[in-house]
Amino acid sequence: MIPVMKPWLGREEADAAAEAVASGWIAQGPRVQEFEEAFAAAIGTRHAVAVSSCTTALHLALIAAGIGPGDEVIVPSLSFIATANAARYVGAQPIFADVDLVTQNLTPKTVEPHLTGRTRAVILVDQAGVPADLDAIRALCDPRGVTVIEDAACAAGSTYRARPVGAGAALAAFSFHPRKLITTGEGGMLTTPDGSIAARLRRLREHGMDVSAADRHRSQQPVIEHYTEVGFNFRMTDIQAAIGLVQLRKLAPMVARRRALARRYQELLAGVPGLLTAGDPPHGETNYQSFWMLLPEESVVGRDELLRLLAGAGVSARRGIMAAHLEPAYADAKPSSLPVTERLTARSLILPLFHQMTDSQQEHVASVVTSALTGSAPAVSVP
Ligand SMILES: Cc1ncc(COP(=O)(O)O)c(C=O)c1O
Repeated sequence: MIPVMKPWLGREEADAAAEAVASGWIAQGPRVQEFEEAFAAAIGTRHAVAVSSCTTALHLALIAAGIGPGDEVIVPSLSFIATANAARYVGAQPIFADVDLVTQNLTPKTVEPHLTGRTRAVILVDQAGVPADLDAIRALCDPRGVTVIEDAACAAGSTYRARPVGAGAALAAFSFHPRKLITTGEGGMLTTPDGSIAARLRRLREHGMDVSAADRHRSQQPVIEHYTEVGFNFRMTDIQAAIGLVQLRKLAPMVARRRALARRYQELLAGVPGLLTAGDPPHGETNYQSFWMLLPEESVVGRDELLRLLAGAGVSARRGIMAAHLEPAYADAKPSSLPVTERLTARSLILPLFHQMTDSQQEHVASVVTSALTGSAPAVSVP
């Protein structure tokens, strides 16, 4: 089966993890700190705070932004459910806004109708790695005192106005789940230019402690720690960070390879009339974390049928991005109409794209899609 995604891991990551184990310090410690410094430098922001996942990063970002019960947080429904859940974790109400058809991202036009006196934050997702127009959203939100948190879960290595995604955000959250480019198994990172926010995030991820366990361990003198507020255990381990440091060094070649594969998909699928595929927005470059395609309106082959045809031909594709407001967990949300979201979630798919993908694997995927959608002879051989 051709997988939809495959992490690019090798000997170096295995050695780095083994060294962390051999060092005797495997919880959050020096390697986490090194990973944070390297990540902040790669993004071009001052501070990076490692956490256990992007979900916990979003949770902490909302706490750091002072969001709580009674507040409204505008989010795209078209996102992995963690984006909306983060608002619920802090007792706020997620308000679902629609997205742009081509970028799958929030825009000022889709956000503005939802701004109320209770709006305190917008979670701006760089969906599938495609950079959202942060400056445009901030121009709308900053004058109203609404915090913009960038959910860059998928977007490490994407660029926005020629800078790495996250560089311009007050708070940005990244994921290192294996469906993303760089992975630590599970893991996440928060970035911010603000030193006092970073210090609070470091305390919050570690039970609200004012001195980290690693710093206490390093001290020659006894240190009595204090718990400044109710925090969490959202720590990353040094084993994960050791892997992350190696992965981060591979980010540039990962992006280059994915962009080359995406261009090839665009060429191979160009003959399917009306097919819309992932691409760069005018304001940046995507890392193609996911290569999605939206079925033509006139296509009689539906999404699920195409997924079945692909599976039958040895190709593991996935449905496109989910819509939180259609899930039972949000049955009570009653959003206003979200026509673009509903079209995208019902009619789009994600095709396999991974660093090690071969030309013949890619040609096979494209030929199955093309034959299903244009009625040309089916290609069934699995390379
Ligand atoms: C947009 C978005 N936000 C948040 C998350 C959650 O990331 P994690 O699995 O690291 O918690 C994901 C994961 O797929 C995502 O795509």
